[in-house]
Amino acid sequence: MDFKVGVIAGDGIGPEVTAEATKVLDAVGKKYGHSFDYTEILMGGCSIDATGVPLTDEAIAAAKASDAVLMGSIGGNTTTSPWYKLPPNLRPEAGLLKIRKELNLFANLRPAYLYEELKAACPLRDDIIGDGFDMMIMRELTGGLYFGERSTKEVNGVMTACDSLTYTEDEIRRIAIRGFDIAMKRRKKVTSVDKANVLDSSRLWRKVVEEVAKDYPEVSYEHMLVDNCAMQLVKNPAQFDVILTENMFGDILSDEASMVTGSIGMLSSASLNETKFGLYEPSGGSAPDIAGMGIANPIATILSAAMMLRYSFDLDKEADAVEAAVKQVLKEGYRTGDIMPQAGQSTEGITKVGTAEMGSLIAERV
Ligand code: IPM
Ligand code: MG
Repeated sequence: MDFKVGVIAGDGIGPEVTAEATKVLDAVGKKYGHSFDYTEILMGGCSIDATGVPLTDEAIAAAKASDAVLMGSIGGNTTTSPWYKLPPNLRPEAGLLKIRKELNLFANLRPAYLYEELKAACPLRDDIIGDGFDMMIMRELTGGLYFGERSTKEVNGVMTACDSLTYTEDEIRRIAIRGFDIAMKRRKKVTSVDKANVLDSSRLWRKVVEEVAKDYPEVSYEHMLVDNCAMQLVKNPAQFDVILTENMFGDILSDEASMVTGSIGMLSSASLNETKFGLYEPSGGSAPDIAGMGIANPIATILSAAMMLRYSFDLDKEADAVEAAVKQVLKEGYRTGDIMPQAGQSTEGITKVGTAEMGSLIAERV
């Protein structure tokens, strides 16, 4: 089959890692008889440099015309880059928030999984890691604080900033349904994370999740306060299957979850709407400090491409092949710098490779 893939290479390490993901997709196409046609789409800092805004209407139209979009990363160093001297609505991140909203990408899936081969890179103690962990963070992506009214103004002579956190029951219900649906395909457990001891939005969240849970009698579910969840993620990560949560909590908890897998360079993500369309991106950032050096880990982006095969194109066999190729390469001892054994640990059988070599090794094993 032929698929139209929009590619947002973006900023920092984005272009390097997306190049490896398309390399792997091409290997999949060759082996399984598909073709992927790529359209470059500008977003983020590179779009600001070229057009003055982080996301143009043409870019949105190009994304909408694609079957799915593969993204690298956007943004730069927030203290030194000139992009951050611009008004907030013209900065790189505004482009990402806008595309999520325009395409209604309300469901963000962020799997965090400990590879047996990467146990050495996991910062947790062996007795905590146990047999590893495998969780899916379902983050609501188009509501809450990141999309509420905001202002900074002087009130009675004092500078006052305000961000508002709003959720409607419909917004909560649709993400909760996604969370429970995914749990049905996994270990049938949902942990809904909120701050219901303080926030009204969380109390509504809890009520709606309870209603949705009634339709899934096979799924066991619990509520957990977000501060406790932050602690439980490093205390006993294996207890989690699906973590269902609102936008900001999901942003923070998914970074934490990625770090306990050993490296943010391993964590893929999918942002989905009600159709088959999705935007697929690594959870990590643009890492401007290592951009252009050829040392970034492309695995998160390659695994995001695998999610694209699975969720947007219904190519499960092909997605399995990519995931197996990643496992195989790790088993053979290949590592980018971020997932190398820590100081004092054995490096026997381990080979350090750069971005392009890692991509090629995985492509060859598809
Ligand atoms: C992420 C990022 C974005 C977010 C930023 C860049 C706006 O941190 O995808 O997690 O907060 O959603
Ligand atoms: Mg984030």
